[in-house]
Amino acid sequence: MTYIVANWKANKTEEEARTWIEEIGNIIFTNEIPDNKKIIICPTFSTLAILKGYILANNLPMHLGVQDISRFKKGAYTGEIPAEILDKNIEYSIIGHSERRQNFGEDDETLQSKVKNAKEKSIKPIFCVQNEDNLIPQGVEIVAYEPIEAIGSGKPDSPDNAEKIARLIKERNPEVKVVLYGGSVSEKNVKSFSSKENIDGVLVGGASLDSSSFFSIIREC
Ligand code: PGA
Repeated sequence: MTYIVANWKANKTEEEARTWIEEIGNIIFTNEIPDNKKIIICPTFSTLAILKGYILANNLPMHLGVQDISRFKKGAYTGEIPAEILDKNIEYSIIGHSERRQNFGEDDETLQSKVKNAKEKSIKPIFCVQNEDNLIPQGVEIVAYEPIEAIGSGKPDSPDNAEKIARLIKERNPEVKVVLYGGSVSEKNVKSFSSKENIDGVLVGGASLDSSSFFSIIREC
């Protein structure tokens, strides 16, 4: 199985999200997606319902995830979105993205709580690490290796180095079954990563915002 995960970050109005999903839906209606490609879209919370409605109504072969999950349970936590209140169609959550570690001070303890809360609600964490030494909490099966210098810079890691790190992550963490590469993935370089033995797919930021670039990545990987 090859995973292709879109991370929209803090982008897209409701109208833009609707246009994106309609565009990609139209491409998918005429271009079958092979069963061995798992497509996971992680939009903003404010556009999730739009994507969900369209994906379910049109039976699109796409799964939904969120970009973060609360470390708290439901209750008096203004502004938070805990796992318990997410719709059952949300199957995945990115956890520990470097932008959250940097901008929101998320540490190992916080990330462990987030993983635990996600798993209690059967949401699969896509746990982001910047190197092979980052702590990976118990119960994580999907990891995304994303070196900070490669994110949004147009300068991806070398496929050989990414493969080496992916192998080390799997060797050191026997629970981890899937390692994705993320950082400046494009339709031009995606195959060089996804074809590596220990890399099981990609996490795509900037290039996922445009429906045709994202579909090209799906096609090429
Ligand atoms: P990028 O972002 O593809 O824009 O480099 C990847 C990510 O941060 O998940």
